[in-house]
Amino acid sequence: ALEKSLILLKPDAVQRRLCGEIISRLEKKGLKLVGMKMLVVTKELAAKHYEEHVEKPFYPLLEEFITSGPVVAIVVQGPEAVSVVRGMMGKTNGRESAPGTIRGDFGLSRQVNLIHGSDSPEAAARETAIYFQPEELVEYSSSL
Ligand code: CMP
Repeated sequence: ALEKSLILLKPDAVQRRLCGEIISRLEKKGLKLVGMKMLVVTKELAAKHYEEHVEKPFYPLLEEFITSGPVVAIVVQGPEAVSVVRGMMGKTNGRESAPGTIRGDFGLSRQVNLIHGSDSPEAAARETAIYFQPEELVEYSSSL
């Protein structure tokens, strides 16, 4: 099915100047960018986004990291975009991610792991609404 996925390029991706590389991979794969913005995640936004993790022992460090600098929020669209993006990201921990994946190629950390991607279409809808107003998403045909 045609899906949308919410992606965050995390503060380490911005600091390491890897945003272009990562966006380029998404585009070359054939995914369509339908929303994109730069922002600093507040503690309130972080708690909404990571509501299932707020009570976990690693949450204080996750909050500190995700609010530490600007991120790029992106919505991509494509056939089975959610699982396609997750495959491109690799496993949570960069040390365990296969070469060829974003985390496998660029990271060694479990927490400072460059990119977030929604893990289901339902999560994508929920997360997209946290970062984007409906009118900030664009619709266009790819027929040029
Ligand atoms: P993400 O896909 O954004 O979803 C939750 C994030 O929490 C995850 O990427 C990691 O950055 C972080 N995370 C998940 N598990 C752990 C863990 N065990 N210890 C520290 N950070 C974690």
